[in-house]
Amino acid sequence: MRTRWGKLFTLIRTRGGVFAAGVVFAILAFVALNYAMEPLSRSEYCGSGCHEMNISYQTWELSRHGTNPNGIRVDCIECHLPPRHHYIRHVVAKGYAGTKDVIMHLVGPEYDRETMRRRVLGHMDNDTCLHCHDGLDRALGPSPARQAHQAALAEPHKPENRCVTCHENAGHERHETLFSMEERTGP
Ligand code: HEC
Ligand code: HEC
Ligand code: HEC
Repeated sequence: MRTRWGKLFTLIRTRGGVFAAGVVFAILAFVALNYAMEPLSRSEYCGSGCHEMNISYQTWELSRHGTNPNGIRVDCIECHLPPRHHYIRHVVAKGYAGTKDVIMHLVGPEYDRETMRRRVLGHMDNDTCLHCHDGLDRALGPSPARQAHQAALAEPHKPENRCVTCHENAGHERHETLFSMEERTGP
């Protein structure tokens, strides 16, 4: 009985050239895709395209994830797309979100920030945060934060245990500003 591997080797022997070309093409396409995506993944790019995102960029910069004493920057895509190690899901979601954003910007209704904020809040699951913030339960002491985090880890599906229920402003600091963003940048 011929195994799957046996068939594969026969294929390579008889159609070696075509097979090799296919592999080379796949690798090149993969490299090109990553190369093309790299600039489109930077926060500067995400925040510079249009006025809708300008404000998101500024509120992100004011947040702890945009600016902190350790100089670490957590980019937009870290929270707004599936993690990069789920490569296919990441790329598909990126293409979808990017295309939708452009279409909505061009022909969509007027951008309603509060509606979008609510929509994003509704979809942001704990895994988005936990893939960086693991070990929350390892903090010492019986502090209220620790209790909250233990509950969040034990029963993540309860609405009150969602990370963004308590940390709504984690990605965008909308309150502690020196001036009103809307006023400064216009509608
Ligand atoms: C730490 C996670 C995190 C990061 C990093 C982050 N966001 Fe958000 N984003 C959120 C959450 C949570 C909300 C919903 C709550 C809110 O808007 O206050 C949100 C809401 C939004 C919204 C809808 C509301 C609005 O302001 O229009 C947009 C657009 C957005 N983010 C774009 C961005 C862009 C662009 C970047 C990078 C410059 C970014 N986000 C970085 C977590 C994040
Ligand atoms: C890519 C990794 C990453 C992701 C994803 C991420 N964070 Fe963070 N988070 C960080 C880093 C880095 C800091 C800054 C630590 C510092 O201040 O040096 C931070 C800081 C924080 C802080 C403490 C600072 C503050 O605002 O008081 C909170 C709370 C927090 N994150 C919550 C969240 C929540 C909620 C999410 C999901 C919506 C999230 N994080 C997603 C990496 C991440
Ligand atoms: C019931 C409310 C509540 C929930 C739900 C919650 N937190 Fe917190 N969290 C707090 C409080 C209170 C603090 C301490 C005060 C502060 O730093 O804002 C805190 C602090 C933090 C900090 C900074 C301090 C530290 O230990 O590094 C991070 C990071 C954090 N939370 C992440 C998360 C993540 C990720 C989730 C979701 C798994 C989550 N939190 C769910 C209330 C909550």
